[in-house]
Amino acid sequence: MEEKTPRAVSVSVLKGGVGKSTIAGNLAETLAHRGNTVLFMDLDSNGHASAGLGFEDHYENYETHLGDVLFNTANPSDVIFDTGFGFDILPATDNHSSIENQIKETEMPSLQLKNNLIDPLLNNEYDYIIVDNSGDKSTLLNNTLVAAQNIIMPLTPGEESLHGLQRTKEDLLKPLREYIDLNILAIVPNRLSRRIDYHYGDRKLVEAINRGSPSKVPNFARIPAEDWNKMDNGDWQGKLPKPGIRENNEFTEAYGREKPLREYNPNNPELENLEELAQIVERGGVNHDG
Ligand SMILES: Nc1ncnc2c1ncn2[C@@H]1O[C@H](COP(=O)(O)OP(=O)(O)OP(=O)(O)O)[C@@H](O)[C@H]1O
Ligand SMILES: [Mg+2]
Repeated sequence: MEEKTPRAVSVSVLKGGVGKSTIAGNLAETLAHRGNTVLFMDLDSNGHASAGLGFEDHYENYETHLGDVLFNTANPSDVIFDTGFGFDILPATDNHSSIENQIKETEMPSLQLKNNLIDPLLNNEYDYIIVDNSGDKSTLLNNTLVAAQNIIMPLTPGEESLHGLQRTKEDLLKPLREYIDLNILAIVPNRLSRRIDYHYGDRKLVEAINRGSPSKVPNFARIPAEDWNKMDNGDWQGKLPKPGIRENNEFTEAYGREKPLREYNPNNPELENLEELAQIVERGGVNHDG
């Protein structure tokens, strides 16, 4: 087995409701299922991901919080818990905006999360740290990107989603890239319908990312131009290509039961796509040869 390279990944895009929390939590679980030590951090002030893993009460009822660790009055272990699903969680709390204000007052406001939490934990405790971020610009999102430098971007069909991708690249990543390397590990189409050849919105999304960022598209969403031609001309033989993570109610059902998808239904077909995403995190990028 190859030596592991510890890696932190932000699941983020400037767009709400595209599946960031769903993919982040289930990716953390899948990495753990593959034998890695994993920390899942919920840095979205809405706390949705934490609630879906059984940490809803913690949102308002906590003794120590992220700010205490960043400002040296607590240890990381005081704010990290075992999910019971094979990985650890740093759950969201209801005071992110006051933590952000404190961060802004420090001398190096972009480096607080990196220096005080993510770097020490990656060097000593975890193989992978997966961070769920908000769909809006924020100090915690900036801090996460500087610390993690790796990004996974989920997108759902629809014009606004492609617009969100563009805005993320222009308004969020481009300014940061003047100072640091940022690596988009994968762009992940989510909530697709069954028939990619019929469904205009799905096709537009999958075509756009295959054309614009082919090296970032996982194999499960990779459809080269010649395959679209074959589908359009009716000479497609066999199974239609898998276009991405599909619309599947069990994601929401599992969330309601406060469990990862695998725990809810170990045979859910979408777990296979999460498996490839986990490999992309382990490898540090998409591999189109394997
Ligand atoms: N592939 C899928 N199939 C069915 N439902 C899904 C799928 N992916 C996500 N959902 C559902 O869509 C909703 C939004 O997903 P999620 O909360 O993960 O998005 P988000 O990008 O984190 O949103 P926010 O910006 O509000 O944090 C949730 O109810 C979730 O269960
Ligand atoms: Mg979310």
